[in-house]
Amino acid sequence: MAQDNVFKIGLILPMTGQQATTGRQIEAAARLWMAQNGDTIAGKKVQLILKDDTSVPDVTRRLAQELVVNEKVNVLAGFGITPSALAVAPIATQSKTPLVVMAAATSSITEASPYVVRTSFTLPQAAVAMADWAPKNGIKNVVTLVTDYGPGLDAERFFKSRFEFNGGKVPEALRVPLRNPDFAPFLQKVRDLKPDALFVFVPSGAGAAVMKQFGERGMDKAGIRLIGTGDVTDDDQLNDMGDVALGVVTSHHYSAYHPSAANKKFVADFQKANKGMRPNFMAVGGYDGMRVIYEALKKTGGKGGGDALLAAMKGQIFESPRGPVFIDAQTRDVVHNIYLRKVEKKDGQLHNVEFDVIKDVKDPGKTK
Ligand code: DHB
Repeated sequence: MAQDNVFKIGLILPMTGQQATTGRQIEAAARLWMAQNGDTIAGKKVQLILKDDTSVPDVTRRLAQELVVNEKVNVLAGFGITPSALAVAPIATQSKTPLVVMAAATSSITEASPYVVRTSFTLPQAAVAMADWAPKNGIKNVVTLVTDYGPGLDAERFFKSRFEFNGGKVPEALRVPLRNPDFAPFLQKVRDLKPDALFVFVPSGAGAAVMKQFGERGMDKAGIRLIGTGDVTDDDQLNDMGDVALGVVTSHHYSAYHPSAANKKFVADFQKANKGMRPNFMAVGGYDGMRVIYEALKKTGGKGGGDALLAAMKGQIFESPRGPVFIDAQTRDVVHNIYLRKVEKKDGQLHNVEFDVIKDVKDPGKTK
């Protein structure tokens, strides 16, 4: 097939290392999308080129450069962590290649290049919802514990300022390193401070370790509640976290337990194709990212290059497994519902069960 009849998506993900679950989830979701929707769109053969960046931003940048220069990809996609997305933003701008962020969630990423479009979420979206819920539910005094980089700093800042605005107090804001985190000394400190609750943000894949140590220190029994953005009760790991996770309330945009027909089909098809693996919020970011790319290709017929594709990505509205989604044409960021969810056992499995919703939440972090 002639080269100009091929449409190439360069998918850069952490397939190994600390963020490997993110890569595995997004790859599975992208392949599911293609299995369900075919690989010939507007007369073009869609080709997915997967590269493992091991979550090292310098590697992400090198891979993106190679994909643009040698492979002449039409779209760059993936990006498991914020530093990887930020490392590639200048390449997207310079080469006019749309960059679809499927995982990373620091607010400012969309401002790093006019070619960034995001289908994941932002930490301010999730953190503000929790800061509104907690004080109405007897939680007045909260220690925050976040991973010390972009999304954690967003989570801390937006939770704290909104919670204090609502009359709450944050006596201590703790930060743990991204690489090889040891939560023990931080949790000991929280135990000594005895707040009503501990608010946690850790990236996808790190939640089980936090939960385990929280339980081992008997913090739940000492009356300290665990709250956070839904990254900590990640559906990829939740079922193995044990009873310490029961009752944990989080705010997020996706639960595998979301009770819509579209989600039930997504979860069933995903599990069937992946030996029972449960899709998490990373998978949904990847799945919706593929939809945004496919729709843009359909609309443009692949003509007009990166600028035409980008224009066709802006403003898309569709039903995602997470609920209704809108790609804000102004900010190129995702607008979606944020749900409050509580971990419950259903049919012998732990799930994030939604009990309230804030509709159509835009990123509160945008400065422009
Ligand atoms: C980011 C990574 C995560 O795994 C997550 O759950 C949220 C944000 C990030 O690096 O942006």
